[in-house]
Amino acid sequence: MKKLVGFIGWRGMVGSVLLDRLKENNDFLNFNSVFFTTSQIYGKPPYVLNRVSSRLEDAYNVEYLITLDIIISCQGEKYTTDIYTKLKNIGWKGYWIDASSCLRMDKKSIIVLDPINFNDIKLGIEAGIKTFVGGNCTVSLMLMALGGLFSHNLIDWISVSTYQSVSGSGSQSMLELLQQIGYVYKNISMYLSSQKSILEIEKMFNASLNKIDYSSTKLKGPLLGNLFPWIDKSMNNGQTKEEWKGAVETNKILNSKKYIPIDGVCVRVPSLRCHSQSFTIKLRNDISIQEIKSLISSHNSWVKVIDNNFDSTMGELNPLKVTGTLNIPIGRIKKLNIGKNYLSAFSVGDQLLWGAAEPLRRILNILVNK
Ligand SMILES: NC(=O)c1ccc[n+]([C@@H]2O[C@H](COP(=O)([O-])OP(=O)(O)OC[C@H]3O[C@@H](n4cnc5c(N)ncnc54)[C@H](OP(=O)(O)O)[C@@H]3O)[C@@H](O)[C@H]2O)c1
Repeated sequence: MKKLVGFIGWRGMVGSVLLDRLKENNDFLNFNSVFFTTSQIYGKPPYVLNRVSSRLEDAYNVEYLITLDIIISCQGEKYTTDIYTKLKNIGWKGYWIDASSCLRMDKKSIIVLDPINFNDIKLGIEAGIKTFVGGNCTVSLMLMALGGLFSHNLIDWISVSTYQSVSGSGSQSMLELLQQIGYVYKNISMYLSSQKSILEIEKMFNASLNKIDYSSTKLKGPLLGNLFPWIDKSMNNGQTKEEWKGAVETNKILNSKKYIPIDGVCVRVPSLRCHSQSFTIKLRNDISIQEIKSLISSHNSWVKVIDNNFDSTMGELNPLKVTGTLNIPIGRIKKLNIGKNYLSAFSVGDQLLWGAAEPLRRILNILVNK
């Protein structure tokens, strides 16, 4: 009999990308599905094959949820903390798949990124693990980009600066940035072809952004023409939680025998989709650039080494080029002048695909076909 899968949070950024990927791959053929909502109860669910209910069900209806074989939640931390605990407390034995971060470091969960840790996932399922969580977006994208170096145990440590798009903060933030663009354009468009100096126009641009009331917004300030070097909560050691996740999640996914230090600064930038990362890597050995490129590009089917020149970098290594694809370009690969074992690299990936929805889609298929 086909397994019954419940979808929660399917309307958000991660959930809607997940839905598209499942449809593209005809995955709905393999299980029965039911869609839930926290805000539009008895509304219309998306049309998919093998849907067992023609209305949206209440995502807080625990009695319905316990009938499911698999729950996949892209709703967020608050929902997971509330409902996962309730289900576990009443002895639910199904599989929980989650996009949020709150269960990632739980001892009884596996962070899923099967091109990196398929064996651990397989062993975990055999051992009775029931909770599978997608990793932090930049962590998953880094592992897909640098998997060839990690798998050969060549990385001593990494310092990273991230350039994270606004959709990484959810659909509300993306709408806010687009509203800022519309508002400012309305205020300054008439001056763009006038005799006003560019400095005067810049002043109007800033004044226009400053007129917006950000107190009730998610972004809390203007991201247009701007950036915020702070993502997520404070960890009280100088790091943000996003920065903290870099090392702890990577080492959990890799099941590292020797802890690999990873740290840096995570920055929100006004690109709409895709996260970019600039790495400084201390290698364990002085290996040639040729060998580094070969190890990186042979690790998985999605990573692509981009030549370190102007045309290739401009053409291939940017968010717009990668948006909506599973490609993981990595370029600017060079030894740094500070020493033979120091390497730089820059990578881009769609944080809604490999950084969120795709590992969830793949673990869903693994569990459905088990
Ligand atoms: N965004 C990313 O790049 C990313 C990457 C990795 C992990 N994550 C994690 O995944 C979880 C979900 O993130 P998300 O970015 O997908 O959140 P999101 O876009 O804010 O969506 C979450 C929920 O908000 C509700 N919602 C309210 N207004 C909406 C609107 N205008 N459009 C769509 N949905 C709306 C929907 O729930 P109802 O239908 O029930 O109302 C939706 O499922 C979070 O824990 C996040 O940390 C996100």
